[in-house]
Formats: sequence, structure tokens, C-alpha cells
Amino acid sequence: MTETTFYPLRKAMCQLACLLLSVACGGARAESLQVLHWWKSVSERKAVDLIAARLAAESDIGWHDSMIPSGSGAGAGIVLRSRMLANDAPEVAQVNGIVVRDWARLHLLLDLDAVAAAGKWDKQLLPTVAEAIKSDGHVYAAPIGIHRMNTLFYNRKLLARLHVAVPASWAQFEQAAAKLQQAGVVPLAQSSEPWQVTTLFEALVLIEGGDFHRDLFQRRHAAAYTDPRLATALQRLRSLKKWMGNPIAERSWDESMRELADGRAAFMVMGDWAKGELVSRGLNVDEDFGCTAVPGTERYHLYNIDTLSMLAAREPHRAAQEKLAALIMSPALQNDYNQIKGSIPVLRNPALAKMDSCARASWKLFASGAEAQVPSLVHRMATEEIVRDAIVAEVHRYFLDDNVSVADTQRRLGTIARTLIKSR
Ligand code: BGC
Repeated sequence: MTETTFYPLRKAMCQLACLLLSVACGGARAESLQVLHWWKSVSERKAVDLIAARLAAESDIGWHDSMIPSGSGAGAGIVLRSRMLANDAPEVAQVNGIVVRDWARLHLLLDLDAVAAAGKWDKQLLPTVAEAIKSDGHVYAAPIGIHRMNTLFYNRKLLARLHVAVPASWAQFEQAAAKLQQAGVVPLAQSSEPWQVTTLFEALVLIEGGDFHRDLFQRRHAAAYTDPRLATALQRLRSLKKWMGNPIAERSWDESMRELADGRAAFMVMGDWAKGELVSRGLNVDEDFGCTAVPGTERYHLYNIDTLSMLAAREPHRAAQEKLAALIMSPALQNDYNQIKGSIPVLRNPALAKMDSCARASWKLFASGAEAQVPSLVHRMATEEIVRDAIVAEVHRYFLDDNVSVADTQRRLGTIARTLIKSR
């Protein structure tokens, strides 16, 4: 075997070994980066392992994993803040949305201007993503993928067996749900975990219009909180409870997804990370399951952008941090990672032909421009974290207790929106 044929083979074998043993590989390298994140499910883990393996193979940098299980990241945020106060910051952290801007202003994040300029990120990125990673004109995060939240997943084989059509309206959903329940199937898989309830709720708000969602959560207009459309969304949330399991268990999103995968439940409203999970469990898009927009929200892309930020307190690791940022933006990683994760690349020109039908529809709608794009409240795209947390708690309270009235909830949400700071 010649040197030229042997070397690529050896490299491929090393890559495979690192893929299987990514944590161990990370430990053995001259330098490694500790990465704090909340990706825990099977598909999330696979997606993280892919980045770790490429980082090791291409730059000989280890990935020291610090996973804080916490659904949509509230717990991870708390751990990260406490570690920073204790002067024990990791080198890299999953910091999403508005938090990037807020932390950059406190000088907690490293600017990635040089990497972004070298990689021409401004030309490569979809404009909304390019904006989301900047604060006061500087780049503070490496964007990995875009998720769509207003997605209705369904078990295709189950629906076919029970002769239930995929609903295109809420009236059709009600008919389908009644039939499914009679057949002993849970119509809508749902957890009572606060962020999951509010993820469903914000998709229901979106039915009332993209601008109404923006007025409520992004612009926080006082009038939106007394608007009858908010009452409609709250009432719909309550009326959907009859189609959920009894009792509605507080469980992780991937557990709910398993109910749908096993055919015990028919539908689920969730961000499209759920697609990654279904695929990683051996199910096929367009064959075993399908995804469509939550009825009434077809024109909108309720989005969430995943990003990794580099912590400024770890300056000696700057070169390695910049290499990770550059790797994340490479087209090969973008395409491969997002296929596993269920999200779509942040790029203007991704490999569309390699995407499944859900991803292609998501990318095309997002890329169509600002009118379609609606920033998610729950996933920290729309407003300050403290406001987001307060709204999630209020919606959760309303969801759990049928004695809490719609009017009272509207009043309480209005107070939160009015009184909590706006740091723009
Ligand atoms: C993150 C996703 C993640 C999901 C569930 C969201 O906030 O953006 O990447 O898969 O939470 O853990």
C-alpha cells in the first residue's frame, strides 16, 4: 500500500474510532474544550458526537462534554451562570437567542469577528441568522441550525390503519381526535412540563397571526394582552387537554415522542428536533411518520436558532474556540449535523437535494423572508429570559388548574409584559 492510499485510510479509521469513543478521544488530546449544553436525547447525542468527532479529526482538539439535562435549557442556563460567578466557566456554551446579545453586552462572550470575516459569514448566512448572532455590530456566536416549532407530527401508519386523514383545520383535528380516542389511541401526545406546554401554547397563538404573536412576545404591546385573540389561544389550549393522556404526565419530550413512535399516540406538536429523534429510532419520514404545520399556521415559521458561544473568561483557549466556530459554519458539518438533529442549515445555499421533505419545506419557508419568520418565545428568540420564564410559569399554572380563568391569566400576562425590563 502506498503512502497516499494508506494515509486517507488511516485517517478514516481514526475518525471512526473517535466517533465511537468521542469522550475518550477528547481526554487524550493536547487541548480540549469544555462544552456546556442541554442536548440529551439519542439524536441530540448523535449530533453532538458528530461535531466532537470532526473537531478531533480536523483540528486535534478534544470535546469535553458537559451536558446539563434540562429540556429547553433553563437548568443549563442556571448552571452556566453559577459556574461563571464561581470563576469556573467552560470554554464553550449553548447560549441561544436574546441571551447572546445580553451576555455580549456584559462582556462575557468572546467576539468571533475574525472567524466570521475569514469565513465570509455575512455572505453565507441567512440574514436573520446573521443578525441573531450579533450584538452592537460584533459576532458573538457560531450558529448551528434552525428549528421550526409549529410542527405537527403524526404517526402515518396508525392514521392509515384507522382511516384518519391528516387534519388541515382544527375542525378536522377534532373529528380525527374523537375517532382516535374511540379506537383507544391517545390523540395528542403531550407532557405537562412547563416549557412543553408553552411550546404548544405559542403555536396556538400563531394561529391568530404572525403579527399578533410578535405583538405579544417580541414587541410586548399592552393592547395584545387584552385582545380577544389571546383568550381564544388560551381557551384552545385548555380544550385540547381532553385529547391528551390522562393524567397528563410530566415527562421529557423524547418520552412523549416514543408514545407517538410506538403507535400509542397519533399526533404531537413539537419543535422539529422530534424528527431527528424519530429518525434515530429507525422511523422514516414520509413512510412511518409525517410532519406538517400546526393547522392555521402554514404561512409561518416559528423559529429557534441553536448557537454555541465562546466564553471570554477562557482567553488562553481562543485559537481552539475559533477553530470550533469555523468548523460549525463549514457546509459539510452544517448539512450532516442538521440531518441528524432535525433542524435546517443556517446557510443561504445548503444542499437542498439531500434534505428530507420536512427539512426542505422548513428551509424554503424560512428563506422566504421576514414575513414568514416568527421568533419563538419559549426558545429565547423573542424576548428577555426573565420575561420568558415568567410567561412560561403563568401559562403552566393556567394549564394545570382549570379553576384559573382566562381573564385572570390575560391580566397576569399583561402585568408581566408591562412591568419587566426591556433591554433593547
Ligand atoms: C434547542 C434544541 C433542543 C431542544 C430540546 C431547544 O431549546 O434549541 O436544540 O433539541 O431544546 O432539548
